[in-house]
Amino acid sequence: MKDYPTRKGPVRALAGISFRVGEGEIVGLLGANGAGKTTAIKILCGLLRPTSGRAEVGGVPSSRPEVARQVAALLEGSRNVYWRLSVEENLRFFAGLQGLSPREARRRTAELVARFGLQEKRRTTANLLSQGMKQKLALACALVKETPVLLLDEPTLGLDVETSHELRGMIRMLASGEGKTVLLSSHDMGVVEDTCRRVIILARGRVVADDSVPSLLALFRTTAYRVSLRDGLSAEARARLVERLPALRTLDAERALEVELPPEKDVYALMDALREAGVAVEGVTRVEPDLEDVFLRIVRGA
Ligand SMILES: Nc1ncnc2c1ncn2[C@@H]1O[C@H](COP(=O)(O)OP(=O)(O)OP(=O)(O)O)[C@@H](O)[C@H]1O
Ligand SMILES: [Mg+2]
Repeated sequence: MKDYPTRKGPVRALAGISFRVGEGEIVGLLGANGAGKTTAIKILCGLLRPTSGRAEVGGVPSSRPEVARQVAALLEGSRNVYWRLSVEENLRFFAGLQGLSPREARRRTAELVARFGLQEKRRTTANLLSQGMKQKLALACALVKETPVLLLDEPTLGLDVETSHELRGMIRMLASGEGKTVLLSSHDMGVVEDTCRRVIILARGRVVADDSVPSLLALFRTTAYRVSLRDGLSAEARARLVERLPALRTLDAERALEVELPPEKDVYALMDALREAGVAVEGVTRVEPDLEDVFLRIVRGA
């Protein structure tokens, strides 16, 4: 549990949450603004103490200084970098903190600068970098440490599409190639679907879902179909259809419709209804929920 003390009294950020992340897993931490993601991440890396309860990383309580050898964090808004230091200086500084020799620190710095495409900016101070470059530098600083566990708070925030894709690839590599354990928060469902096999959803400081992405998707699989129409839908045909299929929505200016079938009806019943209404069908596809639909349903339900 975590309460932030404020002048108006304590603000509850985490109301007793419990989860475990296994070695080599990439787990997504999802939740609306204020759900408690950043608070959980800060507790795990030892920046905040829980009001009650405990957090451990690799068997070490997060409140102990040794936890720094286990975990590196990318904090919200790239706040883990020094604004007045250049890209290289930041990286060397963090390498030094980690106990790398100056030579190793230079090697590691050069490697990360190249990996993140920051060569041209290596002597630029962090405050003069673009938002996306700052974010890359912040992640590079987190990686300098070569810890087994990485906590990434919104790692792709502010990145352009291409860079975000690059970064997703890197995150997947960190886990599959280097065996790192990654806990990442994001509002970008694409990022989460691309990188995580499991997600934990927080709502108002509680865990409301913790499952693999495929089983969450299966949980919300409906028997909804999307039908594209050859000639659109006349008002008359629509009226006839709605009699048989009340849960019908038209899309794309009446050129397609979406319908969720009640349990007793199958796709044949749908086709019959369409034929009897005299509607020319171009194609039928099943509507599959994506992670965003699942997230919204769970959070609204909570
Ligand atoms: N330093 C603080 N003092 C007081 N309350 C805080 C503080 N930091 C966070 N909170 C409150 O704790 C709750 C959880 O905040 P937190 O930053 O963990 O959410 P989050 O899930 O990271 O949200 P976001 O998606 O917006 O980053 C919110 O109600 C927030 O207002
Ligand atoms: Mg946050």
